[in-house]
Amino acid sequence: MTLGRNDVCWCGSGRKYKACHLQFDDKILGYQRKGHIVPEHDIIKTPEQIQGIKESSVINIAILDYLEEVVKEGMTTEEINHIVYQMTVERGGVPAPLDYEGYPKSVCTSINEVVCHGIPGKDVVLKSGDIVNIDVSTEYKGYFSDSSRMFLIGEVSEEKKKLVQVTKECVELGLEQVKPWGFLGDVAAAINEHAMKNGYSVVVEIGGHGIGLEFHEEPFVSYVAPRGTEMLMVPGMVFTIEPMVNMGTHEVEIDESDGWTVYTKDRLPSAQWEITVAVTETGYEVLTY
Ligand code: MF3
Ligand code: CO
Repeated sequence: MTLGRNDVCWCGSGRKYKACHLQFDDKILGYQRKGHIVPEHDIIKTPEQIQGIKESSVINIAILDYLEEVVKEGMTTEEINHIVYQMTVERGGVPAPLDYEGYPKSVCTSINEVVCHGIPGKDVVLKSGDIVNIDVSTEYKGYFSDSSRMFLIGEVSEEKKKLVQVTKECVELGLEQVKPWGFLGDVAAAINEHAMKNGYSVVVEIGGHGIGLEFHEEPFVSYVAPRGTEMLMVPGMVFTIEPMVNMGTHEVEIDESDGWTVYTKDRLPSAQWEITVAVTETGYEVLTY
């Protein structure tokens, strides 16, 4: 579809195309002609949509903040699931994971060698020395938010603490690369280099994603791609930065019995932090930390 200069812009502003996104689209076209992957209009959010994602994020963050106060040794991951469900619905939201492609619970709880998508259960008890990723995702008034943090249970080894800390640094270094007219590969390279420098590896098959009007949107966000590759970043894009960093091999395998739980192939520990970020005119805005 080609818009005329005097047509109403596709972005919903109500302004004429020539006074709104015409130059923006021309710039994107220039990158596309050079062979770059560029975003479609449908993943570029309006300011109103970003506001909606922020309101969803408020719930997401409140849940993680509360969990930081109460998660401790002896607790079951089923109790965490219950807290996430209750806090979400009390605030008028829906836990995005629940029934998502058949996922049975409201949150993912991934302990030690579980890379991601660990399913909470009554028989899964947190014990001293565990490192746990709690991944909370919220739908509120049709807008989605997604973030996860690591929780250290009791006395954790220096080795595991370092993995958790370096993974957090990976997210921060990736975030610094988020700016309009950069590439998602710039984010990936910063993350992968920092992980490798510390002797770790980054999971290849599972990455981040666009988010906002759906739980998972385009693009797939790799954390192992080279600089200058992957999708062009433009203002209004919203996506997650959520690298999974492994102490040993990057290789993973899925539990055949539940179809969800992802383990490291060598059963060495894995860590992950996740934030949702928006690309702005000048750089980035973090929507969930
Ligand atoms: N929260 C995960 C993410 O960061 C997705 C989990 S899908 C689920 O993308 F079904 F397992 F919840
Ligand atoms: Co995510």
